[in-house]
Amino acid sequence: MKQISAIVMAAGLGKRMRSKKAKVLHPVAGRPMVWYMTSLARRVADGHVVVVVGHQGEQVKAFLDQEKKALEPLDIAVQVKQLGTGHAVQQAKSVLMPKGKPVSELCLILNGDTPLLTQATVQRLMTQHQATQAAVTILTTELENPQGYGRVLRRPNGQVIKVVEDKDATAEEKSNHEVNVGTYLVNSAFLFKALDSLKPNNAQGEYYLTDIIGLAVAQGLRVGGMKTDDADECFGVNSREHLAFVEHVMRGRIRSRWLAEGVTMLDPNTTFIDDNVEIGQDTVLYPCVTIEGTTKIGCATTIRSHSRLTNSVVGDGVIIEDSSILDGAVVEEGASIGPFARLRPGSIVRTKAKVGNFVELKNVELGEGSKANHLTYLGDATIGKQVNIGAGTITCNYDGFRKERTVIEDGVFIGSDSQLVAPVTIGKGAVVAAGSTVTQNVPADGLTLSRTEQVNREGWAARRRAMYAKDGAKAKKNDAPKGAGRKSKALKKKTL
Ligand code: UD1
Ligand code: MG
Repeated sequence: MKQISAIVMAAGLGKRMRSKKAKVLHPVAGRPMVWYMTSLARRVADGHVVVVVGHQGEQVKAFLDQEKKALEPLDIAVQVKQLGTGHAVQQAKSVLMPKGKPVSELCLILNGDTPLLTQATVQRLMTQHQATQAAVTILTTELENPQGYGRVLRRPNGQVIKVVEDKDATAEEKSNHEVNVGTYLVNSAFLFKALDSLKPNNAQGEYYLTDIIGLAVAQGLRVGGMKTDDADECFGVNSREHLAFVEHVMRGRIRSRWLAEGVTMLDPNTTFIDDNVEIGQDTVLYPCVTIEGTTKIGCATTIRSHSRLTNSVVGDGVIIEDSSILDGAVVEEGASIGPFARLRPGSIVRTKAKVGNFVELKNVELGEGSKANHLTYLGDATIGKQVNIGAGTITCNYDGFRKERTVIEDGVFIGSDSQLVAPVTIGKGAVVAAGSTVTQNVPADGLTLSRTEQVNREGWAARRRAMYAKDGAKAKKNDAPKGAGRKSKALKKKTL
């Protein structure tokens, strides 16, 4: 028999959140609350982990499926009607007590809404539970404002005898500041028998899990309460204000973790890092940087202010200048990005390549050492090594129906203000003259120019000024000097 299984109660809507989204799906530092509880359960339990879902159960299940790799093996139990926490735990019975026999000696039960709870505290709870041979051990803490929490009642000798919910408590019971955190260790055989005898005789008409405490005491079994001084980690999220508090504490923890790992933050309070992010040593984060999702950042990289990186991979020694946005992008070692650059999903910036100001990339590979330094849109393109993309270049990748690719081979020079109408290939080492609209493939090492020839008319501007000076404000458009808009022999070709 395994030693310990775990149950995460995650079926409630959380009315006090005033949300259409199930409470446990609300994110804290980029991960839904249910992630923290389930991953903690998985780390502690050697047996089954059962997540009880109900409200938006499909979405909760879909999220857990997506994180399967980290959480497996995992069971899902469905609580069709949310009749209370005792009823929620009962839904795990078929997994944890098949054919009337428990699969593990102990059950760890966790509320789905206490994401700050730590593994160290749960481990201490386990040690106490085993040392005292209790049937139930609960985690408690003293709160300055215990409103909304179940109060823990003890005998003068310290023995826990009851948890009374805030809504059911007398004024005297409410004056008690020791609260039930919602973290329980229970002997499996006792648990499932006790759950069968719960009655919804209370202010909310619910089956309270906390009533198993009174039942254990009535049977002469021992109930322990382990009090922790860290009230923050006991915080149960029931409202948006609670969510904001938990977010604040979690973000602080994450920052401390990375500071300890050798990351510099010029202003930690304005640096936002999601829980799943990884950052290498000697990386420097300037104020107001946000790093989200599964982003991984290498060593000695610098990220300047107001940049946001989401689900991206950034190598060592990269510089990301101010106000740049990376989403689903890969940036290799020594590259430089921004300021004001936007890298959309599928962008790969190879080693030592440069993406400058007001440049947008989407589904593009920019090869090693290549540069797109100014005012450019590159979409659906493969760009080779040592390519120069001139200012104002645009890949015209969309014809209103389909997206097409542009291929720019190694060593190409694209002159400024060029449009490359996809599908099109610019051969290795070719030059595209500034201001060209390229609609056909360009041969390797060739020159392409597709702009109209330049017209120069000597003295035209001076004649125009003189004419307008004579006619003053009455001058009309039709009075333009001779030769305007017509061909003149005074044309001069500009040598390219
Ligand atoms: C619960 C405890 C309370 C404790 C507090 C700590 C009970 C009766 N009360 O109150 O003593 O001080 O947590 O935060 O247990 N859930 C279900 N199905 C249901 C009802 C709830 O899965 O039918 C889940 C919720 O999704 C949530 C957890 O159980 O994750 C706790 O429910 P919640 O409504 O937040 O209970 P509290 O009123 O906070
Ligand atoms: Mg709660």
